Amino acid sequence: MRLTETLEKIKAQHLVSFFMPGHKMGRKIRDYFPLSYENDITEIPGADYLHDPTGAILETEMLMSQLYGSLESKILVGGSTVGILSMILGSTTRGDAIIVNRNAHKSVYHAIEMGGLNPVYLIPDMDQTLDIPVNLSASRMEALIKSAPGVKVCLLTYPTYEGICYDVKAIIDVCHRHGIVVLVDEAHGAHLMLSEALPPSTLALGADIAVQSFHKTLPALTQTACLHFGKNHLLNNRQVEGVRWHLAALQTSSPSYLLMGSVDSMLSLLKDQGERLMQYLMTAIANFECRMDDLSYLAIKRYNGMDATKLILMPKDDAMQFGYDGNWLSETLREHFGIQVEYATDTFCLLMTSIANNREDFEKLIGSLTVIDGLIDKVVAQKVDGTQKMPKALNGQHPKKEVTAYMTQPEVVYNPSEAKLKETERCCVTEAAGKVSCSYIIPYPPGIPILVPGERITGDKIAAIEKYRKQLMSLPENGMEVIK
Ligand SMILES: Cc1ncc(COP(=O)(O)O)c(C=O)c1O
Repeated sequence: MRLTETLEKIKAQHLVSFFMPGHKMGRKIRDYFPLSYENDITEIPGADYLHDPTGAILETEMLMSQLYGSLESKILVGGSTVGILSMILGSTTRGDAIIVNRNAHKSVYHAIEMGGLNPVYLIPDMDQTLDIPVNLSASRMEALIKSAPGVKVCLLTYPTYEGICYDVKAIIDVCHRHGIVVLVDEAHGAHLMLSEALPPSTLALGADIAVQSFHKTLPALTQTACLHFGKNHLLNNRQVEGVRWHLAALQTSSPSYLLMGSVDSMLSLLKDQGERLMQYLMTAIANFECRMDDLSYLAIKRYNGMDATKLILMPKDDAMQFGYDGNWLSETLREHFGIQVEYATDTFCLLMTSIANNREDFEKLIGSLTVIDGLIDKVVAQKVDGTQKMPKALNGQHPKKEVTAYMTQPEVVYNPSEAKLKETERCCVTEAAGKVSCSYIIPYPPGIPILVPGERITGDKIAAIEKYRKQLMSLPENGMEVIK
């Protein structure tokens, strides 16, 4: 089936959306900006020009800057990806070292490779059960800076894909004390400024540049994002110009006015109703969580200070023992209840909410989870091995619960751009221990590499590749590229 037909088919399913984009199938934003082909224009007189705005686009960017509290804000039409590439490439020069949290999105690694940079990794603490990063520590950053003198730029991811936050202000302060510029991948944080009950945006905490995806957590079209220069940023003129140059070089010369119009309309929505809608969402989530307390086999996992709009939905141990894992839960919600989550692993499902979700969405969710909980209960109580129709666990197998601690300090033998110049050979994953990778091995979602070109392949990385094999992009059946 081709693309248009597929899109129409999915549309006809009227899925309840707990996945991106944040407009949840066109809600809220529709009243502000009814999409039409007539609006799909190019830079004709009067329509301004994205790469050197002086009119309407500049006005929208000024409103954005005002709402977000930045020195200057730029609309992006290539997602946070293009903002991340531009801020890293623009503020560094070839051969520079850059401190990066190892749980960074693949776009950060691509910038490191393109820019010929030497990564110095800040390793996050991991939740050993869910296998997700949960903390970055300021004292570890302090030690890292001392061990790598001369680093001038650092990249932090905040919040994580799962909405987990940490004391980012302490880390920004450590970096600034050492004269290090802080770039923040805040792709999942464009909505944070809508409520004081949410973690603060790094723009309010001194980030020098923050990049945010509008489309992930707010009602705007996919690909829309922004780059903000912080009010008191430490970038020098060469770096500021470098960032601007890369934005112009890496983005299309024909930016979509539909995308840019959707940003402008979303800003109007935020200005008029953003705080009220966020309060409504937070109340709906609190009510939903209260009702989740009544369930026996399913729970919402919370971390201190996390973004409450992200829901980490977990089967409890009793259910997991019967094979009811995160992947099963995600498939059951979609197939039997028409609810689509953002992503699933063997231990949990991630649900993304936004100000476009309404009370009915949460009613449908809690109703479905209550039914699922009851069906799991029947199976567990009878100690039968998931043979009934709906609650049948995938494969009827108990999930593996071993932890694959792949988020450890890698041995960087070559930086990624050096590694790409080496002669390579294909190697079966199980025989790759001790060799040096020339491939990116990236489970998607969440898009955080297990291996980067130039890194030594170790047993824990191989275990992680096996664990995430289903989610791996770029891992051909016949193995991976290693350096000869
Ligand atoms: C942490 C993080 N950073 C950056 C990106 C890239 O954002 P975009 O899809 O807007 O290019 C993603 C996308 O999933 C992400 O999760």
